[in-house]
Amino acid sequence: MNATILDVKNLTKQFNNLKAVDGVSFSVSEGEIFGLLGPNGAGKSTTISMLTGVLAPDKGEIRLNNESIYADLNRAKHLIGYVPQDLALYPTLSAVDNLNFFGQIYGYRGNELRDRVNEALRIVQLTDRAGDRVKLFSGGMKRRVNLAIGLLHTPRVLFLDEPTVGVDPQSRNAIFDSLESLNRQGTTIIYTTHYMEEAERLCGRVAIMDAGKVIAMDTPQNLINHLGEGLIRLEIQDERDDTLRDSISRLGSVREVTRRGRELEIRSRSFEETIVDAMQIIASFNTRVCAMNLLEANLETVFLNLTGRSIRE
Ligand SMILES: Nc1ncnc2c1ncn2[C@@H]1O[C@H](COP(=O)(O)OP(=O)(O)OP(=O)(O)O)[C@@H](O)[C@H]1O
Ligand SMILES: [Mg+2]
Repeated sequence: MNATILDVKNLTKQFNNLKAVDGVSFSVSEGEIFGLLGPNGAGKSTTISMLTGVLAPDKGEIRLNNESIYADLNRAKHLIGYVPQDLALYPTLSAVDNLNFFGQIYGYRGNELRDRVNEALRIVQLTDRAGDRVKLFSGGMKRRVNLAIGLLHTPRVLFLDEPTVGVDPQSRNAIFDSLESLNRQGTTIIYTTHYMEEAERLCGRVAIMDAGKVIAMDTPQNLINHLGEGLIRLEIQDERDDTLRDSISRLGSVREVTRRGRELEIRSRSFEETIVDAMQIIASFNTRVCAMNLLEANLETVFLNLTGRSIRE
């Protein structure tokens, strides 16, 4: 395991009566891709804003590279790249001029500025569109320019806040490629999203947030293995009372069964086992299955099992 690059303890932020972030703690090792997952309003952006020094926390500690970010906020900001949820670009300027502008703010001039701008454009795969005005770009291309700005100073830790919302598949893949290649070169990445499948593909570890709190944290695979029971929805031909439901819920592979009329919803640790056994039980009640729908265990079902809600309600 690499050294800890980011250590967050008991981070808290309240807006009026709302605890937007409520005692969040986690650490990230250098070289990780760490995901912050959660539904709208979970507190992801508020957390990222505090970690990047944009917003002051009410309580808590943020240590970057073994030092509180408040010991020297400028030094911390030099180690950090931040790609915010909202675009901050000059639409009438070209991609390259947007990057030149932000590069100058970082203090780069001359050859160094040119080289850094070219490298950032290469990473986000926009070299051939560098001279076009940003207002003519698709949403996904604008997001890639935003990402390029966050990369200009080669940060050690890159924070991205929902970088693929409203992005076409081609740009989404370009963003993923860029992030994976940066990570291979050693950049630590903190990535927020409410797309569970993105987190599953990209992140080595994830923290699932809900209502300001971290409610689970592990590798996607461990979360799925421990908390991600799949869902089997069965419709049976003839309505039966709860003795059928109770028989199925006693199966070893089943965690819970709910019944609505002829519909049974089964939370299962093993589809194969549950389906075979449930079919037999249903047959012994002199009826049969007429429709079946399967929702495989994934981070969506982890969230559903933890909160009773779907992440995209
Ligand atoms: N400046 C603010 N003033 C008041 N309330 C705020 C402010 N910023 C955020 N909030 C509230 O804090 C909660 C968390 O918001 P936040 O933007 O961190 O969520 P999020 O997880 O990023 O959601 P989304 O997926 O929609 O971007 C929300 O209820 C939001 O309305
Ligand atoms: Mg947000």
